Amino acid sequence: MTAEQARRAVESTPDSLIRIQELVDASITLILQQQSSTGAYPASPGFSAYAGYCWFRDGSFIADAMSAVGHADSAEAFFDWCARVIEEREQQISGIVEQAKNGTPAPDTAMLPTRYTLTGEEGSDDWWDFQLDGYGTWLWALAQHHGRFGTDLSRWGTAVRLSVEYLCSSWSRPCFDWWEEHAEHVHVSTLGCIAAGLRAIAATGILPEGQALAARTTAEDITSFIQSQGVRAGHLTKWIGTEEVDASLLALIAPLAVLNARESIAALTVDVIEARITVGEGAYRYAGDTYYGGGQWPLLSCFLGLAHAAAGHGERARQILDWVVSTAGADGSIPEQVDWQLLAPEYYAQWVERWGRPADPLLWSHAMFLRLAAELRLTPQPSTPRHREDGA
Ligand code: BGC
Repeated sequence: MTAEQARRAVESTPDSLIRIQELVDASITLILQQQSSTGAYPASPGFSAYAGYCWFRDGSFIADAMSAVGHADSAEAFFDWCARVIEEREQQISGIVEQAKNGTPAPDTAMLPTRYTLTGEEGSDDWWDFQLDGYGTWLWALAQHHGRFGTDLSRWGTAVRLSVEYLCSSWSRPCFDWWEEHAEHVHVSTLGCIAAGLRAIAATGILPEGQALAARTTAEDITSFIQSQGVRAGHLTKWIGTEEVDASLLALIAPLAVLNARESIAALTVDVIEARITVGEGAYRYAGDTYYGGGQWPLLSCFLGLAHAAAGHGERARQILDWVVSTAGADGSIPEQVDWQLLAPEYYAQWVERWGRPADPLLWSHAMFLRLAAELRLTPQPSTPRHREDGA
């Protein structure tokens, strides 16, 4: 099916509402079924290169979506997994922080990886491991969850404090980006995830005063750095020192709210991403992407929809949600990417040969669909807070 046919098939009719609701149910069921007893969310259970691993990035957005649709227990089980992984590496983190303080930063290979096995080990496959964004995103997701349910955060306190120390000491280092590429650059979306996490967790009151101040100050420093070095021609850039964009930047507008969706940098970032790396409602990762031929990513379209929703463009957000629904297979599974209009079709076969067909389902795709549907009030909303200790 072409993108055009897909679009026509999902005009906003009552039928499309039914399909949204069916996909909401299917997505929640899939995520709950796949979540490990350890709390980890496998990125894509059947895809050879991802099977058996949980990423801090994917998992944090999945937990946020599950929290947003009222599945607090699922989100909290994931936070427990994160906390165990981090606490078990307390010594490693203290060493990294110490080395950064002494001006002799640890090598990239000694930094925390982006993904772990479902039981929290590092796994034996080579990976593009040093990525900082997920450690910010888990703090952000935890703080969002606290904001929704008033959950007492004390059981995650040690892991939160270690994460804050780690990020405050190392945020300015180059590392691999969301796509596990370009370790030589400082990526603006990575910076945004860290700033969002530090700012949000500081506001929950879980940090001791001195560390809360450090987290707030670092978040402000990062935001100023983004505004001064991560903006060209009025829009955010893929990394410091380029004019290119990347669809991961949309997350900084929503849901991370590092930028106000109505300010001009945000609006221009959306415009440029739509003009350069979106066709219809389907967003690509970046210009020149060749991974599986460089297809459109439903989860990135959801970030685009969230940015539009935050700017008050509900109709566009809804159109995007309908397009995302059209990417689901007959069995209701949403892939990592669709191959309808590839940027570099000549690369497709070599990836299939290497790792098999593209990841499908991808839990993060389902989660972002849920998160956008929740934003548009098309999912069950979380009921009254379960255990607010603050009486608010
Ligand atoms: C993507 C990552 C993602 C991982 C697991 C990779 O292809 O580049 O962003 O975390 O898959 O879904």
